[in-house]
Amino acid sequence: MCGIIGIVGNRPVADRLVDGLKRMEYRGYDSAGVCTLHDGELVRRRAEGKLNNLVEELERADAPGTTGIAHTRWATHGAPVTKNAHPHATPAVALVHNGIIENFKELRDELRAEGRSFESETDTETVVHLISREIEKGSLPQEAVKNVLPRLRGAFALAIAFRDYPDMLIGARLGSPLVVGQGEGEMYLGSDALALAPLTQQIAYLEEGDWVVITNDTAIVRDVEGNEVEREFRNSGASASAIEKGNYRHFMQKEIFEQPTVVAQTLRSYLRQGEQQVALPQMDFDISEIDRITLVACGTSYYAGLVAKYWFEQFARVPVDIDFASEFRYREPVLPKGGLALFISQSGETADTLAALRHCREQGQVIAAVVNVPTSSMAREADLLLPTHAGPEIGVASTKAFTCQLAVLAALAAHFAVKKGLLTREEEAEIVEHLLEAPACLNAALDHDDDIAAMAHLIAPARDVLYLGRGADFPLALEGALKLKEISYIHAEGYASGEMKHGPIALIDEDVPVIVLAPSGPLFEKTVSNMQEVQARGGKVVLISDAEGIAEAGEDCMATIQMPKVHPLIAPLVYAVPVQLLAYHVAVAKGTDVDQPRNLAKSVTVE
Ligand code: F6R
Repeated sequence: MCGIIGIVGNRPVADRLVDGLKRMEYRGYDSAGVCTLHDGELVRRRAEGKLNNLVEELERADAPGTTGIAHTRWATHGAPVTKNAHPHATPAVALVHNGIIENFKELRDELRAEGRSFESETDTETVVHLISREIEKGSLPQEAVKNVLPRLRGAFALAIAFRDYPDMLIGARLGSPLVVGQGEGEMYLGSDALALAPLTQQIAYLEEGDWVVITNDTAIVRDVEGNEVEREFRNSGASASAIEKGNYRHFMQKEIFEQPTVVAQTLRSYLRQGEQQVALPQMDFDISEIDRITLVACGTSYYAGLVAKYWFEQFARVPVDIDFASEFRYREPVLPKGGLALFISQSGETADTLAALRHCREQGQVIAAVVNVPTSSMAREADLLLPTHAGPEIGVASTKAFTCQLAVLAALAAHFAVKKGLLTREEEAEIVEHLLEAPACLNAALDHDDDIAAMAHLIAPARDVLYLGRGADFPLALEGALKLKEISYIHAEGYASGEMKHGPIALIDEDVPVIVLAPSGPLFEKTVSNMQEVQARGGKVVLISDAEGIAEAGEDCMATIQMPKVHPLIAPLVYAVPVQLLAYHVAVAKGTDVDQPRNLAKSVTVE
C-alpha cells in the first residue's frame, strides 16, 4: 500500500527519494511522485505506472533541492493516473498521504464553497487545501498542522513540505504507520524502517496521533494533545540486504526457499528442544481459564488461522470462532468477558485486522497477536505478542510468513493443551518432536522444485483450477487457490473435498485441472474417493501426496507431486510448499509480475 519517504538533507535528495520508493515497491502501487523544495518553489514530478516512468520524468525535468517528499500510490479514491498521484500541492504546501480521509467529501464541499478548486479526485487533496488555508491566514506550519489534524477522520500517515520553510518537513500519523530516521546532519520520514535502511538504522516509531517536525538535526514529536513527547531512536536492525533477491529470480522464490531456515528460527523461540517442551512467552493471564478463542485475520493469515482452529479444538478442546477481519465487527459477534481474541498478521498493520483487535479490546477480550513485524501497531497493542521470525517478506504473495504463523500456532495450541492438563508429558514431547521435524521436511519438499516447474505448463493454460483438501489440509486448498489466482490471474477455488458432490462437481470437465492435497494418513481414503468422483467425470487431477499415497492412487492422475511422508500435525506446513511452488512456476510460465501482481498491495492499511 502507499509508501512515504521524506528527507531534510544536506545534499540533493531526488535520487535518494526515488531509491527509497524503490525499496517500497513491494508494498504495491500504481503511480508515484516526488516534490522537492528549490529556489522558493515546490518542484513536483509525478507519473502513473511503474517507477521507471517517474525516473524518466525526472530525466526530462529534474527536481533539485536538499529537502523533499515522495510517494508510491495504491489507488483508493480516483483512478491510478498522474493527476491523482501524490504529492498533492497548492503553491505553498505539498504533501503525501497513506490511508483514507473518510470525511473528505464534507471537507471538500466546505473548501469548494470558499472558491477553492481541486485538480484530483483524491481524498488527500482536501488535506493540502486545509493546511494551505491555515498558512494563508498567517499560521506557522506547526500551527496549521495542529489545527487541521483534528478535522481529519479516518487513517493517515502524512509527510508535508512548505514552500517557505525549505529546511523542514512535518510528519503525522493516525492509523497508518510512519517512522522518523536520524542520519548524519539529516533527518528522514518513512513508512517503515526498511525504506530508510540504506540511509539510517536509527529509527523512532511514531505512536498513534503523533506528529513530528523534522529539520536537519532535530525531530520534535508531539502527541495527539499537542504535548511534546520523547520517542526514542533505536537501532532498527533493518538491513538493506534483507530486501535484495540474492541469486533468486523473484522475492517470492527466495522467500519460499527460506522457509526451512525461518521456520526453524521461529520454532527455536517456542520450543525447549532439550526438554522436549513447548515454551511460550510469559503471559499475565491464566491461559488454562480461557474457554473460547476468537480468531481474526485476512487472506493467507486467515487460512493459517483456519488450520489452527483444527489444532486448538483437537489438542486443547477449546471452541474456536474464526472470521475474516473485514466481516468480524459487522456481524456483532458475542464476546463474553475473558475470552481470548487472537489476531494473525504478517504486517501487523492490516487495517481490518487492527480495527477488529481494537473492537475486541473494548469488549474485554484478552488480546494475543501472531505478527511478523515486531514494531507494528498490532505487536504494540497486544497483551500477548507471539512473533513469527520470518524476516522481511517482500513478495506480495505471502509464503514464509504463513508457514511461520503455522509453527507458532501449533506451539500455542500444544501449550494451551498442556496448561489445560489435556496432554501428558509424553504427548507434549511427541508434538515437539514432530514440530522439530518440520524444517527438514520443508527442505525435502523443496527438493521437488524442478518437478513442479516441469509440470507448470499443464496448469498455465487453464482458465479455472480447483483445489481439494480435507481436515487441516482443506485450508491449504484455499491457500493454494489464493496463491494461484493472485500471481497467475487464473481463477481458482479451494473446496473441502467432501463438498464437491454438493455442487462444485458440476464444474468438472477436462479443461478444469483439479489439484488434490492428500497426504497418506487417516483422511486419505476419503479424499481419494472424492478425487475418483472427479476422475469419473473426466476431470484431470494433480495429486499431491507422499510415495505411499501416490503408489495407491496416483495411477490415473494427469500428474503427481511427491512430498516426504510427514506426521499429520506438520502436513499443513509441508504441503504449503508445493502449492506455493506450483503457483510460482505457473506465474513464471505465464510471464506475470510475480512479486508485484496487478491491483495488490503488500500491507492493506485501508478498511
Ligand atoms: C496473500 C496475502 C494476503 C495477506 C492479507 C493479510 O498472499 O499476502 O492475503 O495475507 O492481506 O495481510 P497481513 O498478514 O499482513 O495482515
